Amino acid sequence: MIERIIVLGGKGGVGKSSISAATAVMLSDLLPDKKILLLSFDMAHNLSDLFKFEIGDELTKLNNNLWGIEPDPNIYAEEYTQLFTEKMRNLLKKMPIVGLIPQIKTFIDTTFTADSIPLALKNAMFFQQILDAEDVNSENVQFDIIVADFPPTGNMLALFDIPEDQVKVVLKYSLNFYNSIKDSLKTFSSMFRKVLHPFEFDDPNRPKVSDEIVKMLDGLEKRGERISNLIHDVGSLRLVTIAEKPSFEEIKRARDLTKKYVNLEGVHINMITPQSKKCDFCHNMRSTQMKYLNDIKNEFKQTKIWESNRLKDEPIGLDGLRRLAGEIYGDTGAKEILYPKP
Ligand SMILES: Nc1ncnc2c1ncn2[C@@H]1O[C@H](COP(=O)(O)OP(=O)(O)OP(=O)(O)O)[C@@H](O)[C@H]1O
Ligand SMILES: [Mg+2]
Repeated sequence: MIERIIVLGGKGGVGKSSISAATAVMLSDLLPDKKILLLSFDMAHNLSDLFKFEIGDELTKLNNNLWGIEPDPNIYAEEYTQLFTEKMRNLLKKMPIVGLIPQIKTFIDTTFTADSIPLALKNAMFFQQILDAEDVNSENVQFDIIVADFPPTGNMLALFDIPEDQVKVVLKYSLNFYNSIKDSLKTFSSMFRKVLHPFEFDDPNRPKVSDEIVKMLDGLEKRGERISNLIHDVGSLRLVTIAEKPSFEEIKRARDLTKKYVNLEGVHINMITPQSKKCDFCHNMRSTQMKYLNDIKNEFKQTKIWESNRLKDEPIGLDGLRRLAGEIYGDTGAKEILYPKP
């Protein structure tokens, strides 16, 4: 049973991946009996750099009870959509007109492939596969806690949005495709009435392809619902920012846009310049940051705020990540990290 899905979001370069990794390491240290998964949706994956350990698109053990994965969304989309695209292809090929024009058959075969699915949809499909209990079961590892390093806001929204509207997205995609064929067939308008009723030509003795597709869409819809409910119930969004205007603006936007999908439970203000008497530059920088720090705290009064200074050394490797976790959470217990209160 997945107890918690911690999702880290925010603008590029503010420390999302580092804080995700540090959080996962800290939780795995504090909760040796829980199985924890660190999941990266960053297209330019950098978990391997953070852990100084090669993590690929297979579950990789990083610590006794901590796994990581940098999924290749293409591979998962391939598996997940093969069946669907296959059925759609067969259905399209059954249209009488397609049989008459061999080029269209080829067009369908080469265009309606898992490859042609938009990246956001692929990512969402993978996210669902990981979250969906049925599929995770088959991986043989049951995770209790998932820490997900999400892409910046635009792509982050797709990850929440698509499960909610799963069927619509897939249908829209298929219909776009269907329409593109329809358009290219305009000249054959006399035969077109038949094209619009392709299902009539199914062999009545076999299960109809169209029925099978309806069944698949039904399955997709149920899965979408399951995932949306799961994210509503156990999801916990934490937004990462630095004490500067652009990333502050970004997390305000992210808060508003994600409201309907997931609870915002924390804000990380990262890379604060440490106090220094000797360095004028650092002193001035810190003064400016303090102004934004106050603005951020005011804006997010309802939310737990974690502050972390910029560390002298890059927080990489298990020890580096533990140092960063210490900087962020101090001696906070696991419960407070999992279920923060303002
Ligand atoms: N508190 C910190 N102190 C020092 N260095 C930090 C701190 N937090 C993050 N870093 C460093 O800042 C850089 C950017 O961090 P990170 O890659 O985690 O950001 P990100 O938000 O995931 O970026 P991207 O949008 O590129 O994925 C990295 O080199 C990381 O080691
Ligand atoms: Mg990152």
